[in-house]
Amino acid sequence: MKKAIIIGYPVGHARSPLIHGYWLGKMGIKGDYERAEVKPGDVAAALRRFGREGYAGGNVTVPHKEEAFLACDHVSEAARRAGAVNTFWYENGQLVGDNTDGAGFAAHLEQQYPGWNNPAASILILGAGGAARGLIGPLAARKPRRIRIANRSPARAQTLCDAFAQTGVSIEALAWEAREAALADTSLLINTTSQGMAGQAPLDIALDNLPKTAIVADIVYVPLETALLADARKRGLPVLDGLGMLLHQAVPGFERWFGARPVVDDALRARIVEDLLSPAPRKEG
Ligand SMILES: NC(=O)c1ccc[n+]([C@@H]2O[C@H](COP(=O)([O-])OP(=O)(O)OC[C@H]3O[C@@H](n4cnc5c(N)ncnc54)[C@H](OP(=O)(O)O)[C@@H]3O)[C@@H](O)[C@H]2O)c1
Repeated sequence: MKKAIIIGYPVGHARSPLIHGYWLGKMGIKGDYERAEVKPGDVAAALRRFGREGYAGGNVTVPHKEEAFLACDHVSEAARRAGAVNTFWYENGQLVGDNTDGAGFAAHLEQQYPGWNNPAASILILGAGGAARGLIGPLAARKPRRIRIANRSPARAQTLCDAFAQTGVSIEALAWEAREAALADTSLLINTTSQGMAGQAPLDIALDNLPKTAIVADIVYVPLETALLADARKRGLPVLDGLGMLLHQAVPGFERWFGARPVVDDALRARIVEDLLSPAPRKEG
């Protein structure tokens, strides 16, 4: 029986076991997906031990994505650019890492809005943390007209622009104060800051300048409908929530460990939404 595992610290809140458990059941695959709490500093040893214990691979969640990246013998281009690993497996005894977060976002976007990049999009990303770093490569690969990044700490936005300067797509850092003026020429707005997350203040932005056709995306998914998305919906703008990204990022890992490509369907989404809305207090992850 094939088995995979997710590590985090803590890890009790992670939804990945629900997602992979759903696919294992639906596809009739004999397999198991477990979770393990691993302390910071112990990631490399844990990932090697899982290989010896016969796991096919697994996922890495907060706060271990960077530590897992450093532990890998080989990483994908996406992981290298992100400096973080969220999916791992073993090849000939070697530990291999990938980062599927950005591809998950793009897959969800394409599923919901197939024409989002026609005409070529002007993308405004708010935030320049780990999640923003993961999104830029897959978005740039779709050849949008341009990508702009506004972050509270401007140096981090500039670092990201420098890291992705060779993609062939115009990429520019904006001052945080310039974010509302920039909306006038934005066709896809993406919040990658932690603002709007349960326990945090809502994202501070007025959407008045956005064109009526602009898509508003939030990668935060606890709550499922952030204040940003609620505001956009009220204005009649198309919206994209963060849950789809979480579901789609799981597809490549499942295929690699269990040998069959799963589908993100309505029943899976409904199952995770039910869990998110359950009364027990759960954190994002
Ligand atoms: N849907 C998914 O599958 C998925 C996947 C990954 C992450 N996420 C979510 O994405 C969010 C960001 O994750 P991350 O890993 O990128 O975190 P991170 O590396 O800690 O980055 C946090 C970002 O939020 C900004 N920020 C924090 N407080 C702010 C404030 N008061 N005003 C303006 N900006 C503020 C930070 O700006 P500074 O640089 O100025 O500090 C930084 O750009 C989290 O909510 C996370 O749960 C979702």
